[in-house]
Amino acid sequence: MTAKIINGRQIADEYLRRIKQNVAKLSTPAIFAAILVGDDPASKSYVSAKKLACNKAGIVPKIIELPKTIDEPKLLHIINDLNQDKNISGILIQLPLPKQINTQTIIEAIDPNKDIDGFHPINIGLLAQKHPRFRPCTPYGIMELLKHTGIHLAGKDVIVIGASLIVGLPMTLELLMKDCTVTTCHAETKNLSNKIKQADIVIAAIGQPNYIKGKWIKENAIVIDVGINRLPDGTLTGDVDFESAKEKASWITPVPGGVGPMTVAMLLQNALLAAALHLT
Ligand code: GUN
Repeated sequence: MTAKIINGRQIADEYLRRIKQNVAKLSTPAIFAAILVGDDPASKSYVSAKKLACNKAGIVPKIIELPKTIDEPKLLHIINDLNQDKNISGILIQLPLPKQINTQTIIEAIDPNKDIDGFHPINIGLLAQKHPRFRPCTPYGIMELLKHTGIHLAGKDVIVIGASLIVGLPMTLELLMKDCTVTTCHAETKNLSNKIKQADIVIAAIGQPNYIKGKWIKENAIVIDVGINRLPDGTLTGDVDFESAKEKASWITPVPGGVGPMTVAMLLQNALLAAALHLT
């Protein structure tokens, strides 16, 4: 069987249209600040994608570009100003940050009510307690993509490969909220391929091109590929060997055009929520 493709771009565009309708109902514009430190090409392209999606959703991004040499006190000062600024309802800091800056300190400095990335300990804690407010965008988007397949999630065996704050950890919490049985794997995990073979749903966030082979995928499993890896010839590829995996899976996300656009759409969903919260 050849898998059906989960068209993340199309699903994200529908989301952005709906967000735009809701933004139009707000009494003030939805404005969020996106901080980009340094000139990492991947970070720059992610911020550009966010800016483009803002145009589609009627949300106003305030992009703040800072030099990679900025020190932590200066960055904290900027965040504090944004926390106080009544015109700004959401804040995000593009990660990763340069080495001289403690990422955890920065994440904790953002007002949790403006934390549209959902990485603040309060927002992760609320998700862990199954009462989420701002949900980290990639896992949030993946939950929407899974909804699109029509799968009933309760009781499904899911393997999440990766345990980062951005994807793997909140992904595990999202799936627990839907009563899945979740196995979270990381660099120290043993017998990964055997674990993948048991899973009804595979979520790959490893950062290694084409790492997951089709022969490891259970017949009819759903495969969600979070990886965005650039090969030496410039092409983008995921963490899953798409060609072999699509012969085993029932549904699969492409790279590009799968998880990426949904991550951005969910950021704007969070920006809409933040704008609404600031009017109350
Ligand atoms: N870097 C990679 N993914 C993300 C994300 O979702 N949010 C932020 N702020 N930085 C990232």
